[in-house]
Amino acid sequence: MFRFDPYAPAIDADPFPAYRILRDEYPCFWSEDAQMWVLSRHSDILTALNEWRTYSSAKGNLMTELPNRAGATLGTTDPPRHDRLRGLIQHAFTRRGLEGLGEPMRQIAADIADELRGCEEFDFIADFNAKYTARVLFAALGLPVGDEEVVRRNAVLMVQSDPVTRAKGPEHIAAYNWMRDYAAEIIAERRARPQNDLISHFSMAEIDGDRLDEQEVLLTTTTLIMAGVESLGGFLAMFGLNLADHPEARRSAVADPAVLADAIEESLRFNTSAQRFRRCLVEDVEIHGQTMRAGDFVCLAYGSGNRDERRFPNPDVYDIARKPRGHLGFGGGVHACLGAMIARMAVKIAMEEFHKAVPDYVRAEQNLKWMPSSTFRSPLKLMLRRC
Ligand code: HEM
Repeated sequence: MFRFDPYAPAIDADPFPAYRILRDEYPCFWSEDAQMWVLSRHSDILTALNEWRTYSSAKGNLMTELPNRAGATLGTTDPPRHDRLRGLIQHAFTRRGLEGLGEPMRQIAADIADELRGCEEFDFIADFNAKYTARVLFAALGLPVGDEEVVRRNAVLMVQSDPVTRAKGPEHIAAYNWMRDYAAEIIAERRARPQNDLISHFSMAEIDGDRLDEQEVLLTTTTLIMAGVESLGGFLAMFGLNLADHPEARRSAVADPAVLADAIEESLRFNTSAQRFRRCLVEDVEIHGQTMRAGDFVCLAYGSGNRDERRFPNPDVYDIARKPRGHLGFGGGVHACLGAMIARMAVKIAMEEFHKAVPDYVRAEQNLKWMPSSTFRSPLKLMLRRC
């Protein structure tokens, strides 16, 4: 009997064989393990993303949701409340809002990459990625230098779930509570002394006299820290892994850094860190001979849609010349990732500088340990060796 258990360590390690069975044989599958439906084909996921009136985010979007988040944040509300929240903060994420971030990002990446020049073997995640993503997000959000390690530790814990209880454990909830208290302190400081950073900008942003209230600023800041540090770090880890495993792609990117932009899009398709999000049905939906009922949760398996041969030919091949338009690496519809532009820029700059210090490398360990998470997928450690 086929099972799909998004909490299983085997799915963290390699979800792709199960995704293929889902797409081919059970395109609308009831997972007893997750207690939700699973949609795995690209076209069905896209329809769900576009039909937000039917597939609501207001009961939470993480596969295992954190307390008090549902209905209160950008990712966990439906229009019109969602549009209002997004409208109030999105100007900070436009090209103009991000102007001026490129040079500091490059300097941060170059400094950290420099430390690797003498190393034959190192952990890409601990020795480069974690330091870089935390410092970059700190610069963008305006968080105090020195807090990077503790903030990252808590951000990573917040998105994990316990594979045995299939819920958030006390350590995950404690991390979330810690992050909210931390965000509250920062907001109070920025309100008192506004600076040129994202938190200062959106906590003061106003459209037609409308502003975010205290609770909204708090939850938006907490979400941005979590999304920023964890999603960015998770994806950069996957990108480093893809380049380590595909020497031709890596050599092209080292010879011509402009190639990195296409390689990033292909990695977002091939191996995105944001594997699965959930929605809750507002009305019954008939699909592939099944009836999903109003009130049921539905998992949108972005990682599977990205490998759907009905949309992408030879989907299991990592091909940086593919230009995979319509990939689901940043989701889609009204909830498409707000941080997509900053993420693309940060990852490209990171690898440009990393490749100056370490132009050729292979994996030093074949067996990877994966983060236990029903939503995200990335390795906990990635040992690389120069070659
Ligand atoms: C490469 C790194 C990243 C990936 C792969 C990623 C992926 C995603 C995905 C798949 C969604 C859709 C969630 C859903 O369908 O419910 C999303 C939403 C979101 N992301 Fe990202 N993200 C990344 C980086 C970032 C960064 C750096 C930030 C902020 C600094 C950010 C902020 C957000 C926010 C606020 C939303 C919710 C948008 C809304 O509901 O309107 N993300 N992200």
